[in-house]
Amino acid sequence: MEFYEVVKKRRSYRFFKSEMPEKDTIKRIIKAARLAPTWANMQGVEYIIIQDQDTVNKIWEAIGQGEKFNNAPMFIVGIIPESGSGKNKNGEPYYPVDFGICFEHIMLAATAEGLGSCWIGFFNEDKIKQILEIPKKYRVLGLTPLGYPQKEKEEISSRKDLEEITHWESF
Ligand SMILES: Cc1cc2nc3c(=O)[nH]c(=O)nc-3n(C[C@H](O)[C@H](O)[C@H](O)COP(=O)(O)O)c2cc1C
Repeated sequence: MEFYEVVKKRRSYRFFKSEMPEKDTIKRIIKAARLAPTWANMQGVEYIIIQDQDTVNKIWEAIGQGEKFNNAPMFIVGIIPESGSGKNKNGEPYYPVDFGICFEHIMLAATAEGLGSCWIGFFNEDKIKQILEIPKKYRVLGLTPLGYPQKEKEEISSRKDLEEITHWESF
């Protein structure tokens, strides 16, 4: 799929078919995330693939967003240790930035594979860490259900006008 087509096609999907994505497909998606830029190439982001249905159900409970989603065959959970990236000149950490870039690569690669995803950022992090036995030093900054969409969405949801978000030369 051509790049701009992928970008336009990526939408947040919340309803999935039960068919499990192929292992090779999942590996290609993770390989795409592996190519993402990170602070000093530190590559701190790691991915937990969840296909066991008991665990998938537990993850939904920890997300707790109810009927907004139906079940999905699997999840990709992204994790990064706070030490997994650098800090800027103000001492502010860059690990959430590295995480965001890598996880967006996941979403775009999933789209290119014909899969639906939805970045989930609102969940009980402690519960997810407990369910997946994630070591204390890691943060869980996002996770996504992954599966074939029940129904394709329109290519674009509403966005601000280009003029509203673009400043040429100065603010
Ligand atoms: C950091 C982040 C966190 C998000 N968290 C959630 C979430 O917890 N639940 C949810 O249903 N969607 C979540 N979303 C999806 C957004 O609601 C969605 O991207 C936005 O409404 C635009 O729609 P689109 O992705 O279909 O273009 C999140 C997106 C981002 C980038």
